[in-house]
Amino acid sequence: MKRYTIAVLPGDGIGPEVIAQAVRVLEAVGERFEIRFALDTCPVGAAAVRTSNSPLPPETRRAVTRSHAVLLGAVGDPTLDDAPRELRPETGLLTLRKLLDVYANLRPVAIHAALAGCSPLKPDRLRGVDLLVVRELTGGLYYGEPRGRNGKRAINTLAYTTAEIERIARVAFDAARGRRRLVTSVDKANVLEVSQLWRETVTQVGRAYPDVRLEHCYVDTAAMRLVSDPASLDVVLTENMFGDILSDEAAVLAGSLGLLPSASLGDGAGLFEPVHGSAPPLAGRDVANPVGAIATVALLLRHGLNLPAAADAVDDAIAAALDAGARTPDLARPGDQIIGTKEMGSRVVELVLAEALEGLS
Ligand code: IPM
Ligand code: MG
Repeated sequence: MKRYTIAVLPGDGIGPEVIAQAVRVLEAVGERFEIRFALDTCPVGAAAVRTSNSPLPPETRRAVTRSHAVLLGAVGDPTLDDAPRELRPETGLLTLRKLLDVYANLRPVAIHAALAGCSPLKPDRLRGVDLLVVRELTGGLYYGEPRGRNGKRAINTLAYTTAEIERIARVAFDAARGRRRLVTSVDKANVLEVSQLWRETVTQVGRAYPDVRLEHCYVDTAAMRLVSDPASLDVVLTENMFGDILSDEAAVLAGSLGLLPSASLGDGAGLFEPVHGSAPPLAGRDVANPVGAIATVALLLRHGLNLPAAADAVDDAIAAALDAGARTPDLARPGDQIIGTKEMGSRVVELVLAEALEGLS
């Protein structure tokens, strides 16, 4: 029997609720595919600040460094908005990304046919939309030095090296080979020197991929294209801050931020988290959509553990649940029957196990 250790970091707000459902699905996968998942559950974010006075306590650091993959819910708590940076929940997440050196954040956006009516975009704009945001995750403005604030003046630094750009560009080109073979690299090269280096370096890396088409696009144009002609995009390659902004915009296409998963990869254990945040107003009410967290389990199985059949089983179960009309409040249209977080989890679990029975018959 295969065995894997997974560090589970539920985090804040709706994180624990959606992760509870994701874990049930992971356990169903274990049952169906005879895989043993040893779960190591640890605090992160505001939850950890409360118990250990640190958003990434030493026990959590130890757990993630000895795991095969990390599953994280969400971090963020408005009551800590004025806390010093070392005590902010987001600092826990940023430190974790750096600790694992997960420089490549993959955020796939596909339109589920049964949910086409959930997006604010007209259905004809959504036809054929299937894109992947490849966001650089451990550099740029989030980490640049110097940084800080001095009374009425504050500073952050945008810096990238050729090596940092090369490694994320290779991830994008490799991903494009398994897709429609188009990379759209997003920058602001008409203004920023960093973007000029970005453009030059991506072009250089692209020479090794003659079978992949490369285009460059300014970030403002990319923001517009994402909503005016999203089907024209395949792999969107960009730096940390632009990727943060564009990936939330891209999530609107799918109908709800609550649907989208992400994988953050480096050379060691990967970090897997839904794209959505901690959504404090929804916490504890059994209304959050766990599909993003469950789809994140599929990415963990596919990219973190190299178990594609198990990953497909989870994706198929999600699709079947949505096809059968399972709708959390964020997806509900007039007349729909609404279900809660736990019930959505139950439906996916049942389908993961039902597919197993089908496989036997
Ligand atoms: C995301 C989030 C994080 C980010 C926050 C919580 C630090 O918005 O994963 O997109 O900006 O990277
Ligand atoms: Mg974000």
